[in-house]
Amino acid sequence: MEFTIKAGSPEKLKNACIVVGSYAGGDLGPAARALDKAGDGALSAILARGDLDDKAGSTLLLHDLPGTAAPRVLVVSLGKADELSDKSYRDAVSAAARQLAGSAAGDAAFCLAEAELPHRDLAWRLAQAAQILKDSIYRCDELKSKKEESKKGVKKLVFVIKGKEVDEGLEAAVRRGEAIADGMALAKTLGNLPGNVCTPGYLASTARKLTKDHKIKVEVHEREDMEKLGMGALLSVARGSHEPPKFIVLHYKGGKAKDKPIVLVGKGITFDTGGISLKPGEAMDEMKYDMCGAASVLGTFKAIAQMDLPVNVIGLIPSTENMPGGSATKPGDIVTSMSGQTIEILNTDAEGRLILCDALTYAERFDPVAVVDVATLTGACIIALGNLTSGLMANDDELAAELLASGQAAGDKAWQLPLWDEYQEMLKSNFADIPNIGSKGAGTITAACFLSRFTKAYKWAHLDIAGTAWKSGADKGATGRPVPLLTQFLIGRTTH
Ligand code: BES
Ligand code: MN
Ligand code: ZN
Repeated sequence: MEFTIKAGSPEKLKNACIVVGSYAGGDLGPAARALDKAGDGALSAILARGDLDDKAGSTLLLHDLPGTAAPRVLVVSLGKADELSDKSYRDAVSAAARQLAGSAAGDAAFCLAEAELPHRDLAWRLAQAAQILKDSIYRCDELKSKKEESKKGVKKLVFVIKGKEVDEGLEAAVRRGEAIADGMALAKTLGNLPGNVCTPGYLASTARKLTKDHKIKVEVHEREDMEKLGMGALLSVARGSHEPPKFIVLHYKGGKAKDKPIVLVGKGITFDTGGISLKPGEAMDEMKYDMCGAASVLGTFKAIAQMDLPVNVIGLIPSTENMPGGSATKPGDIVTSMSGQTIEILNTDAEGRLILCDALTYAERFDPVAVVDVATLTGACIIALGNLTSGLMANDDELAAELLASGQAAGDKAWQLPLWDEYQEMLKSNFADIPNIGSKGAGTITAACFLSRFTKAYKWAHLDIAGTAWKSGADKGATGRPVPLLTQFLIGRTTH
C-alpha cells in the first residue's frame, strides 16, 4: 500500500472511496460534516436510519452519496465523542483497513486522522494509521504452492488533512508507521515459518540480508566460537540437536560514534520440544514460535534502518533448537555459564534463560546505556496477563517506565511485574550457584530473577512475550509484537 498526504475538501475528492468518521448518536466528524453539507443533509438522513452501530469500529459503506464526488463513502464509527481513546481510534482504523482490503476500490482518501484524541497529535494519529493499514494487509503464503493474488483491496491511500496542518514532520510520521509495519511483517514471517525452515542458520542468513542497509553490520558466531567465549549455558541447550547453533550479533550505527549503544537481546529457540524434560504433545507445533524474541529484534532492526533512526543499537540473538537427542543435557546436569556462575539444570524445558544468560554476559562488552531482552520465556506469563499484554521486569524503574510508555504509545502494551529481592530466595541450588528453575509459583518473576543474576553491570529490562508473540486458534499466526514497542522506545532514545 502506498501512502501520501494531501490537504483538501473531502466532498471534492475523486478517489474510489472516502473514509470518514462519525460518533455515537449520529454526531458527525469534520469530514463527514463536510460531505453532509455538500449533500444537503443526505448523509445525516441515512445515518438517522440507524444502520451504523455506535460502537467504535462499526462501519457502513455508502454508494453515490449526493454531493460527494467519490463513488463510495465508508463511514466508520469512533464510538462516543467524549470517550475517544487510543483504543477507539485504533479499532476504527483497523475496521476501515478490513473494509478497504475487501473492497473493489483501488484507492482511497482517508479522513479518520482528524479525530482529536486526548494527548495524541496528528503525527501520532497518522503514524498509527499507516502502521495499522499496512500491517492489515500482511499475508503469510510463503509456503503455499499457489499464491492468492487478490485483485481487490486499496493499493493507494491518501491521508486527508487540513491546509493549515501541512508540515514535513507528518510525512516522516507516515514513513515511521510504515517502517514499523514492515518490521512487524519480517517478525511475523520468521515466526510463522516452521522449525524445519526457520533454523538458527536461517535466522543468521536473514540477519545477513539486513546488511543491504549499510548502517547494519552482522557477525555470526559458530559453535566453536561460543566454546572459546565460554558460553556453556547456551551450548548446553544445543547439545541435543543436529542443527548447528548460532550466536548472531547485529550492529546498527545511526547515532554518533561516541554514543553508547542500546542492546536488544532476543530469544532464538527455533523449536522448543522441552528437551529431555519433554513437553506434552498438545499444541507443540506452536513451539516453532519460540524464536519470536529474536524475530522481533530483527524486525526492529529493519524498522529503524528503514527510518534512518539516529541511534546506536546492538542486537544479540542466541539461537538453537531445544531437542532431546542422545547427547542432550539431562535434568541435574551442571554447566558453567560465560559469567563463571554454575547452573544446575533441573528442567531442560527452562532453556530460554540458559541461552539468554550468556548473551546478557556478552552484552557487557558494549558498555551499553541499557539492555532489553525479549523472550517467549514462561507459560506462567500467559496465566498472569493473557494474550493482550507483555510482561515487563527491570532492575531500573526509569527504564521500565520508559518501556511501558513506549508500549502505550505504540499500541503494544506491557505491564510491569515486581522483581523484588525477596523473590531471589526462590532460586536455590544445593549443588551449583543457581538452579535454572525457581520454587513453586511466580514463574515469570523467578525466570527474570535468574536473568537478573547476569545483568548487574548495566540497566536492564526483560520483556516476556509468551502471551503476545503469536495467536492460537483459527487465526493462528505471529503478531509481530513487540516490534512497535521496541521501535517506539528507540525513537524516544534518538540522540540528534
Ligand atoms: N518457550 C517456553 C515458554 C512458553 C510456553 C511460551 C508456552 C509460550 C507458550 C519456555 O521455554 C518454557 O518451556 N518454559 C517453562 C519453564 C518451566 C519449566 C520453569 C514453562 O513456562 O513451562
Ligand atoms: Mn522450554
Ligand atoms: Zn522455550
